[in-house]
Amino acid sequence: MSAAAAFCRHRAERRIELLDRLVEERNRDLAITQEQASAVQSYLLGLNNVLPGALIGASTSGLVTRANRGAQELLGYPATALSGMPLGRIWPAATDFIRRCLSSGAQVLRDEAEWITHDDRAIPVLISAATQRDIEGRVLSLVFVALDISERRRLEIELRQAQKLESLGQLSAGVAHEINTPMQFIGDNLHYVCEAFEGLRPLLDALPEFESELPAQSAQRLRELSERADLEFLRKRLPKSIVSALDGVKRVSHIVEAMRAFSHPQTEKTAVDLNRGLMDTLTVAHNEYKYVADVRCELGELPPIVCNGGDMNQVFLNLIVNAAHAIATRQRGDDKRRGRIHVRSWRKHDTAVFAIADDGCGIPREIRHRVFDPFFTTKEVGKGTGQGLSISRSVVVDHHHGSLSFDSEEGHGTTFFIRLPLHHAPPTSTETPSVIS
Ligand SMILES: Nc1ncnc2c1ncn2[C@@H]1O[C@H](COP(=O)(O)OP(=O)(O)OP(=O)(O)O)[C@@H](O)[C@H]1O
Ligand SMILES: [Mg+2]
Repeated sequence: MSAAAAFCRHRAERRIELLDRLVEERNRDLAITQEQASAVQSYLLGLNNVLPGALIGASTSGLVTRANRGAQELLGYPATALSGMPLGRIWPAATDFIRRCLSSGAQVLRDEAEWITHDDRAIPVLISAATQRDIEGRVLSLVFVALDISERRRLEIELRQAQKLESLGQLSAGVAHEINTPMQFIGDNLHYVCEAFEGLRPLLDALPEFESELPAQSAQRLRELSERADLEFLRKRLPKSIVSALDGVKRVSHIVEAMRAFSHPQTEKTAVDLNRGLMDTLTVAHNEYKYVADVRCELGELPPIVCNGGDMNQVFLNLIVNAAHAIATRQRGDDKRRGRIHVRSWRKHDTAVFAIADDGCGIPREIRHRVFDPFFTTKEVGKGTGQGLSISRSVVVDHHHGSLSFDSEEGHGTTFFIRLPLHHAPPTSTETPSVIS
């Protein structure tokens, strides 16, 4: 072989060697890229499944191109039905929103909207939308992630309601005070009218006697005036009217006093007559149960109990309102009988026991373990927040070292028991309850 041929061969071999190395390097790069691509793919797939909400991809013309499992579950469509569907069918305002996405340079747009499910329910959702663009910035497609915010909306409504009630509670102590003063002078004046009438009564009684001694014309005038004033009727009726007005004043004062005691702010524990607290709470809650139930109280003798009286009143109120609601629920079914709420208290050794029983719908076995959970409720929005029992348990168990339990029979009723320890309380003469009403 000539020297020139050997040189050419050597050069060719070098090139092949270089090319081999290049191919080897490219293959390595390709393998790495494929590995990365499949990692990204499985990451996206995982994301797609764990995303806490619905993910929908759409074309710029508003057609659904893909939907994850969350979207199918939220909207109630079968797996294949969403693909190719006009977005406007599940989201009436989609066209406007897409237009905003196309004209805005923003990477991500957020908005609240309503989506319509397969069975025509409107669900409030929080939407985040992103655009996919080409290198010149033209939008190729869109992707939407929607979170169901019905629960948040419900909690917002309930929070507003709770805040309203809290301020009403704070105001009621002041309102009670304002009502108390005029009630006192109405009562005082009625007593005065009552006494004045008693003073006038002998005069009124004596008028017929005088009539016979008067000259005929004056007697006639007196008779006419007496008849015009309906004196005979007034003599009988007026004392009864005053007594019933006084009774009304007494009842209003009683309610106002109960409201004042109930809403009295208390931060520290003091020795409290909880039977009295229970009676005040029944007075304040009268409107909650009077249309559905009668209340029977059997309150036994209890020593003053060291507790936060305001918080304990709140527990009584929660249980009484629950009892009234349970009776109303039972009455909405076939059993229309008027309900009965039986309120009892007694002392058992070193424990004070309070029992609030109703003959309402009862608590179904399958939800019994959940009724003390915060926000667990079976009531519609505005009727219950699901906090009554969880707050009551925290007050009784955490703050007063007592217990809160219940017995329930579905369709027959429920009894809640509050047990509070009586620390060093002097023994009472009886453990048998006395019937109060
Ligand atoms: N006496 C009862 N009889 C039947 N069910 C009851 C009774 N008390 C409670 N429940 C059930 O327990 C659930 C939780 O009660 P809880 O008092 O905590 O909340 P709520 O009454 O629903 O709302 P709120 O926060 O207004 O009290 C109720 O929704 C109801 O289903
Ligand atoms: Mg309740």
